[in-house]
Amino acid sequence: MAILKILTYPDIFLTKPTKLVENIDEKIQNLIEGMAFTMYQAPGIGLAAIQVGCDKSLLVYDVSDRDEKRSLHVLINPRIISSEGTAISEEEGCLSVPDFKADVKRAASILVEGVDREGKPLRIEAQGLLSVMLQHEIDHLNGILFIDRISSLKREIYKRRVKKNLKKK
Ligand code: NI
Repeated sequence: MAILKILTYPDIFLTKPTKLVENIDEKIQNLIEGMAFTMYQAPGIGLAAIQVGCDKSLLVYDVSDRDEKRSLHVLINPRIISSEGTAISEEEGCLSVPDFKADVKRAASILVEGVDREGKPLRIEAQGLLSVMLQHEIDHLNGILFIDRISSLKREIYKRRVKKNLKKK
């Protein structure tokens, strides 16, 4: 299986809101397989379809410890139904924002609804790492990156660094 190309900031495609998946067809199943492979190779704990150039409301994740058996989860058309409290997600990072980490203010716990790859309804009550990861990935589906949620000062530092690197190329 081939590793899919992960789009990185400042690719404009990453700011696009995604469309609902209407048919979980073979194309979507193949996309899921490719995304899972790409996420494990990276390695990452979550990946949204928009990051590999598909503007569909779909994400894959696996927050199990690296030593544990892999446990791939697929979440299609997710919605955050409710959220509670606040938590600082420390040193959050993103495969689409390479070489940068920052603390991000997130909800402490969330309730998410969506469907799995068989179209079966899912209802996930999440806190801790699972909650942070789901908020991060669902942000991707709405065209939002974690650097949109940090102070403008920190964001500028990152943007300047990216600009400098692009000039070097
Ligand atoms: Ni990300």
